[in-house]
Amino acid sequence: MVMYGHTPVLLKETLDVLSKVQEPALMIDATLGLAGHAIAFLEHFPRLSLIGVDADASMLEEAEKRLFAYKERCTLVHQFFDEFFLNFNKGGQKADIILFDLGVSMVHFKEARRGFSLMEDEVLDMRLNTTTGRTALQLIEMSTERGLVHMLRLYGEEQFAVPIARAIIKARDNHELRTARELAELVKQTVPARLRYGKIHPATKTFQALRIAVNDELGRVERALDQAIHALSKHGCIGVISFHSLEDRIVKQTFMKYVEKKSVNKYAEQKSSKTLQKTPISPMGAQTNLDKVELELLVKKPITASHEEVKQNPASRSAKLRAVMRKG
Ligand SMILES: C[S@@+](CC[C@H](N)C(=O)[O-])C[C@H]1O[C@@H](n2cnc3c(N)ncnc32)[C@H](O)[C@@H]1O
Repeated sequence: MVMYGHTPVLLKETLDVLSKVQEPALMIDATLGLAGHAIAFLEHFPRLSLIGVDADASMLEEAEKRLFAYKERCTLVHQFFDEFFLNFNKGGQKADIILFDLGVSMVHFKEARRGFSLMEDEVLDMRLNTTTGRTALQLIEMSTERGLVHMLRLYGEEQFAVPIARAIIKARDNHELRTARELAELVKQTVPARLRYGKIHPATKTFQALRIAVNDELGRVERALDQAIHALSKHGCIGVISFHSLEDRIVKQTFMKYVEKKSVNKYAEQKSSKTLQKTPISPMGAQTNLDKVELELLVKKPITASHEEVKQNPASRSAKLRAVMRKG
């Protein structure tokens, strides 16, 4: 891949909010990407060591080049972040700063050639880690119509889930569905005509749903956050940048379990059943963890991108940064 320029989202805000840590020794960038955030932290804290994690080997390869000047201070790990934190915690080491900048990068849309982009004649793969798991096409091949409807509603919040799922199954059975462009066109022809030519492509939610399902994105965030909180040193900080409400809800709920210690059970029970069904929080795990870790919110409301940043980098439009510090 020839990687083009990359603009890290909410860079200054992330650095400001996570720099509350005094003399941090170790940072884990759980979504290293092209190392934009990582380099800013390595520059800001000259004695900081970094563990950079990414599920996508091609991103790590590029990050390694970009981190050449800091190579003595960096360790790169090719792994999904939930699996990484599980192993990390077994070692008993602690991190002072942990960052998650969720989702995929623009590089995935523009250069990965795995069917992330709606416009391309690329086979529907959508896996971040191409060494494991099922591709989007395989997922479609093994799905029932009902299963697809469920997935489109749950991960895409797609209001036309039923007709879209029906059209996908029909095209699949006729061997007419293989590439991202074919899927995008199929969805476009399925939704009501008035929605076909708007600013946002009508297949955007279908693509989001498939990508989330293929990579188990929400499940991984939920598992990794709980683990990451336990990987924090005292007064260590976690920042999470999310890009859609499904992720942000998990981040908010997970942090709140450790902030509102006394009311957590009530909180979990009172949450709308819609939310809990979408992103189940393991109550047993949460209860055990609550006894040990207490978090303080570093920002009450999530930080969003300035008008200026959105103008320069439209991808930052939906970004939300939440951050917490470990108290005890
Ligand atoms: C938005 S980009 C991060 C950009 C990065 N902060 C930068 O400044 O270059 C997200 C990265 O996280 C990786 N990623 C997404 N989900 C992951 C997961 N569950 N485990 C590990 N890496 C993941 C993607 O491959 C992608 O490279």
